[in-house]
Amino acid sequence: MSNSTPQTITITRPDDWHLHLRDGAMMASVLPHTARQFGRAIVMPNLKPPVTLTSHAVAYRERIIAALPDGMIFEPLMTLYLTDNTAPDEIRRAKDSGIVHGVKLYPAGATTNSDAGVSDLTKCYKTLEVMQEVGLPLLLHGEVTDAAIDLFDREAVFIDRVLMPLRAAMPELKIVFEHITTSEAASYVTQSAGPIAATITAHHLLYNRNEIFKGGIRPHYYCLPVLKREQHRLALMTAATSGNPRFFLGTDSAPHPKGLKEHACGCAGCYTALHAMELYTQAFDSVGALDKLEQFASFSGPDFYQLPRNADSITLRREEWTMPAELAVGESTVVPLNAGELLPWKLE
Ligand code: DOR
Ligand code: ZN
Repeated sequence: MSNSTPQTITITRPDDWHLHLRDGAMMASVLPHTARQFGRAIVMPNLKPPVTLTSHAVAYRERIIAALPDGMIFEPLMTLYLTDNTAPDEIRRAKDSGIVHGVKLYPAGATTNSDAGVSDLTKCYKTLEVMQEVGLPLLLHGEVTDAAIDLFDREAVFIDRVLMPLRAAMPELKIVFEHITTSEAASYVTQSAGPIAATITAHHLLYNRNEIFKGGIRPHYYCLPVLKREQHRLALMTAATSGNPRFFLGTDSAPHPKGLKEHACGCAGCYTALHAMELYTQAFDSVGALDKLEQFASFSGPDFYQLPRNADSITLRREEWTMPAELAVGESTVVPLNAGELLPWKLE
């Protein structure tokens, strides 16, 4: 056993800066998977109906806390769902509540439950100006929805068409470019001036788009933004392991019932909440960068959101285990990413 192949790694307890918990029975089932690893999570607001008001976020947070098993400590960090009609006053209410930590932009039609999203971001500029003023971050699903743009180019085109004009108009607005998937997004975030950061999922670090089509169509590898070419995966790996505090962990774990994934028109989303830290550790280990995992998973996120870092720690051990084929979740079944596969790291 040499020093270059550590058998365990202990890091400050991480947080998940982008998570779908859903609601009701499904939320109650998936919540412990996240809470066993992460101290906090930024909880996405794309419920049906979406979390558009502070009052909705307060009630949703209470449902999450009520569903937490006895003895588990976990803090949900709530978000609002931006619409064409989000009032500037709602932003002040959200900030004053102390429980809302970001406002999510879903371009209308971009992804799951985004129909009520924004049709044209310039319609929201009055609201965004208040976010800039009070320091409430804008969380971006950064893809254009123009049907003429190739699916694989939608993130890169978003930078030119939406993000650059927005940042020119509001240079002090705090922005998290969520679940980035391209070298263009990684370079943009690396090179920009001002308060911008990005989250990266474990699946975009580990896989390229071949994974969706290996031996047949594999719907559990379909998410949005979709997996990209290998050159993009490599750029994300470089960004995540660089130690640059602008890049931090966000799983985008997104549970869907098995029947809606294995479907003629399957839903987008990969379920990784059960084994997220194992996957990130595997990704960092694959390039010999375990020493950079804590910065990415546990430090850069709270620093950007101006929250304290967690005080306790977690340990992962190099030990093979088999991911279950299916998980009973609420009244349905969820197939996790890596179902039935051997994983090389295990959370203690
Ligand atoms: O793959 C995805 N699933 N991407 C999203 O943006 C939404 C998410 C979901 O809610 O299922
Ligand atoms: Zn998401």
